[in-house]
Parts: sequence; structure tokens; C-alpha cells
Amino acid sequence: MNSISIPKHNWDSTLYEDKHAFVWQYGEDLLQLLNPKPGELILDLGCGTGQLTEKIAQTEAEVIGIDSAATMIEKARQNYPHIHFDVADARNFQVKQPLDAVFSNAVLHWIKEADEAIACIHQALKPGGRFVAEFGGKGNVQAIVKALCTAMKSVGIFEPQTLNPWYFPSISQYVTLLEQQGFDVIYATLFDRPTLLVEKEAGIANWIQMFASAFLVGMTVEQQIKVIRQVEDELKPTLYQEGTWTADYRRIRILAIKV
Ligand code: BEZ
Repeated sequence: MNSISIPKHNWDSTLYEDKHAFVWQYGEDLLQLLNPKPGELILDLGCGTGQLTEKIAQTEAEVIGIDSAATMIEKARQNYPHIHFDVADARNFQVKQPLDAVFSNAVLHWIKEADEAIACIHQALKPGGRFVAEFGGKGNVQAIVKALCTAMKSVGIFEPQTLNPWYFPSISQYVTLLEQQGFDVIYATLFDRPTLLVEKEAGIANWIQMFASAFLVGMTVEQQIKVIRQVEDELKPTLYQEGTWTADYRRIRILAIKV
């Protein structure tokens, strides 16, 4: 059996780069929807350690990366010293010059105040500017969340959903928010994207510790281990095959234009 060690602090940029590269590897085809052009000014919103920001820079667009986690920005600056990175929050960032596009991969499901982020993105764009984003949509990681909530109840946490850190909207919910704030949505899709967790047997335990740590806050280490083991037992028949875990990701992908 894999061993579980509970880290004190989970937004570890090295762990993120080493073990969770799928976050930006899957994001690469979103770049085709962005279709950056030389000379365009583009913001990568929630850039993490900068891998997709660098891909945008390779097209000779001028790109800026922002992320709310200082540890991620520190690593992004080390990785790509030629790119401008800043610590900033999606709900209240400002830009010096109006942008041709805002790009965001695998971030907006962390922002429950979606209307605040959309207002910021809108004010940052030029008229006709593009907002291209992918994030978790309605039904994302549903089996994992259900198993986590069941396991948490078994250790005496009776309202586990109050700890849920994510916003996974339906297409209609998100498109409505965008339209209310002055975007034309020209493309929106919701699709299943089962995601292999490369760490073999430890895959789901590590995923929970990296991404779902908000659910574990306030538990003793023993309770956390018990919950993770119970989640593994419950999900093994459906999400574990041939020694590898798969997370039941479901993405929403959007292309919207500032009117
Ligand atoms: C996602 O990319 O869909 C995701 C990542 C971490 C937690 C929840 C969802």
C-alpha cells in the first residue's frame, strides 16, 4: 500500500511542476482556440509556474502572467526570466494597457465570485478583445467529491459541502454571467476529460492533498488518512484501472468577445 504523508501547506510549486504537469499539458490545445498573433498583448490569468505563458510568448505575442500564489509566481520568474509575471487576484486585477486577449486555463473553478472575475476581465480587454478559458464545469470530479463527502461524514464532519472550494458552473450559468457583463459568447462547450493521475497507486491520495486540501482543514492527521483511505476504497472499482487512477474531470471551455 502507498504511504500517505500529509504536507503542512499544499500550494507547493515544485510538487505542482513535478507531479501535476497534466494541468498545463492538457491546456495546450486551448492555445489553438486563443490563436495568439505576433504583437498582441495577452494576459495569462492564473499562470501557475508559467508553462503556457511561455507557449504564448513563443508566438511573439507580448504576454503577462498573473497568479494569486506568490510561490507560483516566484517559480514562473525563475523558469522564464524573459516574461513579466505578477502576483494578482483574478477578482481585482488591473492592467496598464487594454488587452487583445485574456487566457485562463484550469483556474476559474477556484473563483466562487465569478461575476467579480468576469467584470475585471471585461474592463481589462479592448473592445473586440477575446476571453478564452477552460476550467471545471458542472459535474467536474463528481465521483471524487461524493466519495470525499461520504468519508468525511464517517469521521463526524456532517456538512462537508460547506468546505467545498470549487465553482463548477453549467454552460448556461456561465454564459449568462458573461452576457450580463457585456460579452458575446461565440463558443461554449462542456465535455468529459478523464485525467490519468501519473503517480500510479498514490495518484488519488496525492491529488486530494494537492487540490482538495480545503476539505481536510480542521481534521487530525489520523482523520485525514482515514478519509483518504476510505475515498480510495470507494473509488477503486470505478476510477482505478491497471495500477493507475483517473480523475473524472469535466471541463467547460469558452470563447467570448468583449462587445
Ligand atoms: C480541474 O482542473 O478541473 C480541477 C483541479 C483541481 C481541483 C478541482 C478541479
